[in-house]
Amino acid sequence: MYKNELDTPSLILDLDLFERNLILMRDFAAAHNKKLRPHAKTHKCPHIAKKQMEAGNCAGICAAKLSEAEVLASSGINDILITSPVTAPWKITKLGVLNKKISSLKVVVDSFEQMELLANEASCDNPMHILIDVDPEMGRTGVSFEDAPALGRMAANYPSLVLDGVQCYAGHLQHIHSYKERAEESCRLMKKGAEVFHILKKEFPACHIYTGGGTGTSPADMQIKELTDIQVGSYCMMDSEYLAVEHGGPAFFPALKIRTSIISAHRKGEATLDAGTKSIYVTPSAPPLVIRNGKICKEFSYSWDYGDEHGHLFFPENIKFKNGDILEMIVSHCDPTINLFDILYVVKGEEVVAKWDIALRGCVR
Ligand SMILES: Cc1ncc(COP(=O)(O)O)c(C=O)c1O
Repeated sequence: MYKNELDTPSLILDLDLFERNLILMRDFAAAHNKKLRPHAKTHKCPHIAKKQMEAGNCAGICAAKLSEAEVLASSGINDILITSPVTAPWKITKLGVLNKKISSLKVVVDSFEQMELLANEASCDNPMHILIDVDPEMGRTGVSFEDAPALGRMAANYPSLVLDGVQCYAGHLQHIHSYKERAEESCRLMKKGAEVFHILKKEFPACHIYTGGGTGTSPADMQIKELTDIQVGSYCMMDSEYLAVEHGGPAFFPALKIRTSIISAHRKGEATLDAGTKSIYVTPSAPPLVIRNGKICKEFSYSWDYGDEHGHLFFPENIKFKNGDILEMIVSHCDPTINLFDILYVVKGEEVVAKWDIALRGCVR
C-alpha cells in the first residue's frame, strides 16, 4: 500500500528513522556500560517492545500500569517492570496471576501497606520481585530518600518477597530546556538514589538493579556509575516537546508523524485540518510541527483552537492549499497521542510496509 492511500488522520512511523533511534540509544548506553529498560508507555505497541529487545543491550521492558503489563505478557514479553505502585487489593490479586504467568515480573513499592499486600499475595514458591520506588523530590510516587532504606529493610520480614533493587525516575526534569541545568539536577538526585541502592545492596544479596532516567536526562544518567539501566521511552519516536529542548547526547530522529488532510481552505493563510484534540494530545508549550519537503516548516503553525475534530493551520499567504491536500506533522507529546489511535502505519519512503497494533491503547489501569 502507498502512503497516499492512507485515510487521515493516521499515525505513521518512519521505519528507517525508528531503527536508527534504537541503534543510537542502544550503542550510547552500551558505550557507558549501561543497559536499557525501554518504557512501553510511550509506544504502547508490543511489536516495538520486541524490536527494542531484539536490538540488544536490553534489561527488560517497563510498563506503567498492571493492564499494560498484562497485554505485553500476552504478546510474549516475559521480562517486565511495572513502574507505578500497584495498590488496590483486587489488582494485587491480578498481579499474582501475572507473576505466575511470566518468567520475570517486577513491581515497584512505595509503602509498607503495599508491601504487606504483595507479600500476602505471593508465596515462597512464587515470590514477588520488588524494587523500592524512591521519590526524586517530585512528589508523584515513591518514598523519600531518607525513608527508603527503612522501607527496603521491611522486605526482609517477608520470605515471599525478593528485593531486586531501587527505582528513581525524575519525570519533572526530562524537559528542562537547558541541558546543563537538567544534567546537574539529575546528577544530584540520581546520586541520592545511588546512596539508597548502596545501603540496600549491602544488606540484600539479590538487590542488583538501580533503574531510572528518561530520554531527556539519559546522557547525564549514563554518568551515574551505580545506575544499572535507563528507562528511556520517547527516544524511539520523538515529538515536538523533546525536539524543543537541548539534547546532551545523540540527536534522535522524529520517526512518528500524524498525517492529516485539509478539509476547508477558503481563507488566505489559514485552513482547517481533520485532526483536532481527538487526534493530537494538547500540549500548549509544544504544538505539532508541520513537515514540508522533509523539513520542519517554521512559517507554519498549528492551533487546537478549533476543538476536538478540527485543527487550525496558519501559513504564509502566498501558499495555496485545496481541500484534500495532505500534511504530515510531528506530534506534540508522543505518549498520549499514540494512546488515541489503534494502529501505527509503518512506512519506508512512500510505501506502507506494516501495520502494528497499538495494543496497549487505553491500558491506564
Ligand atoms: C517511570 C518512567 N520511566 C521512564 C519514562 C520514559 O521517559 P521518556 O519518555 O522521557 O524517555 C517515563 C515517562 O513518563 C516514566 O514515567
